[in-house]
Amino acid sequence: MNENSVKEDKTRFDFEKHWNAAYQKSAITSLGWYEENPAPSIKLIEACNLPKEAFIFNAGAGATTLISELLVKGYENLVVNDISSVALAELKNNLLIPKNAQIKFIVNDLTNPDELLKLKNIDLWHDRAVLHFFTQEKDQKAYFDLLKSVLKSKGFVILAEFNLEGAKKCSGLDVFNYNEEMLQERLGSDFELLKSFNFTYTQPSGNTREYVYTLFQKK
Ligand SMILES: C[S@@+](CC[C@H](N)C(=O)[O-])C[C@H]1O[C@@H](n2cnc3c(N)ncnc32)[C@H](O)[C@@H]1O
Repeated sequence: MNENSVKEDKTRFDFEKHWNAAYQKSAITSLGWYEENPAPSIKLIEACNLPKEAFIFNAGAGATTLISELLVKGYENLVVNDISSVALAELKNNLLIPKNAQIKFIVNDLTNPDELLKLKNIDLWHDRAVLHFFTQEKDQKAYFDLLKSVLKSKGFVILAEFNLEGAKKCSGLDVFNYNEEMLQERLGSDFELLKSFNFTYTQPSGNTREYVYTLFQKK
């Protein structure tokens, strides 16, 4: 590490601390991104027609209800990631894991991965409301490099982010808004867009947030 990179690391905002505090401060069900029913994600996941033993990766899962929904639907090979150990501990506490299911929990930073780099042959990468927090070009690049290195050929990618009409901040942090063309550009020509829709999510407070949901497949 040279002097400049040491300086850069010292001044970098502590995202791990931020997210741990967010999950410590509020009940899961009152978080601004809590979904009682993760229906839009399930709709796209089922459109992939994957076998139940498919290797499904949830990036920045937090304490999402999606994992228990996937288990109820019989998916049995899940990898769940977050930068926040507090979030993953909460998620684990609320899960009933069937005997035949395997779930791996990985606390790691998607923009500075080490443990995550050991993954391979992922059939489906799912991200809801995570990528849009990466406002720096180098963090976005690290995220997409990781995605491309762990996804298998013909693998699927679901990215659900605040759309261009959407909020500019979440959890007190700036966000980077997307549309389907921008996501296609970041993934590159090796990926084909299969489905895309805008979705208005209603927060527990009753406010709304505009998302773009996309499903891509690696060629
Ligand atoms: C708005 S929440 C969405 C959580 C979950 N995907 C959902 O839909 O409920 C954003 C999540 O991204 C996680 N996160 C933020 N930055 C991250 C990073 N660099 N690496 C891994 N996870 C991260 C946060 O801890 C948080 O759980």
